[in-house]
Amino acid sequence: MNAAIRSVTRAAINHELEVMGIMHGYQGMIDGDIRKLTSRDVSGIIQRGGTILKTARCEEFKTREGRKKAYDQLEKAGIDAVIVIGGDGSFTGASLMSKEYDIPFVGIPGTIDNDLYGTEYTIGYDTALNTIVTAVDKIRDTASSLNRVFFVEVMGKEAGFVAMQSGIACGAKGILIPEVKGQLDKLRQILTKRVKEKRSTIILVAEGEDEGRAIDIAAKFQKEFTGIDIRTTILGHIQRGGSPSAVDRFNASRLGVGAVEALLDDQKSIMVGLMQNEIVHVPLNKTVKLHKDIDRDLMNIADILI
Ligand code: F6P
Repeated sequence: MNAAIRSVTRAAINHELEVMGIMHGYQGMIDGDIRKLTSRDVSGIIQRGGTILKTARCEEFKTREGRKKAYDQLEKAGIDAVIVIGGDGSFTGASLMSKEYDIPFVGIPGTIDNDLYGTEYTIGYDTALNTIVTAVDKIRDTASSLNRVFFVEVMGKEAGFVAMQSGIACGAKGILIPEVKGQLDKLRQILTKRVKEKRSTIILVAEGEDEGRAIDIAAKFQKEFTGIDIRTTILGHIQRGGSPSAVDRFNASRLGVGAVEALLDDQKSIMVGLMQNEIVHVPLNKTVKLHKDIDRDLMNIADILI
């Protein structure tokens, strides 16, 4: 996100626009926690994880009164356009506010889940994938030395993009995601074969998997496969932090410039996304109303490579 903040700031200044940073997301917009950003303020941040502007979950912004307070603060600060970096929740708020008030909102997709409609890429996704692949490579050393089965839980509250892509990238023997139902029988067959052959096995599980959390699925299989040791690792928030990958820095930089250009082009209430590596504009309300489905070809690839 810092790469995007840096890019928006410098692109806007390049067009002789003034840039204000709103702290703590919509909470800061309501509270008027707003400060000017100069080119220097965003120097030395491209390699840093997190966000220098900080963020917050804000219940008050979900109400009309909350958004009215936020609008008053924007007016007071002389802000006449807003660029929002975030996912579903942030874009829902932006879409509502841009309907209620005459102020353009442009969204930049930022979520490690990569589950936003209208863009193939979201900021943070690539870094998360790299973190998972590195972690699984390390887990594999124990798995293969002791012929163990590991269930590795990765983020993805409602979607399996992270699990699917990282699973293929780290050679997992099974990938459990919410989009594909009833996979436990298939997994049972794989495990039966692997255990018989005395081979270690890595299974990736999305946090939002319907059959339960990784720890519960592992416990269930441990009861069935008594002759082997099954372990679970929950990667958790290490997936959401750390120095961003080159791909994330590069794409966030492009999207930041794209967002400023969209505003200068009089675009209102859109997200700048990436499709086939090209910048696209997608109405904000579509990004939140429409569902992005997992690529079925990827599921085939995962099956072929088991
Ligand atoms: O929404 C993105 C996400 O990364 C989910 O995959 C995950 O469940 C959640 O955030 C974790 O959020 P929190 O930090 O609030 O626990």
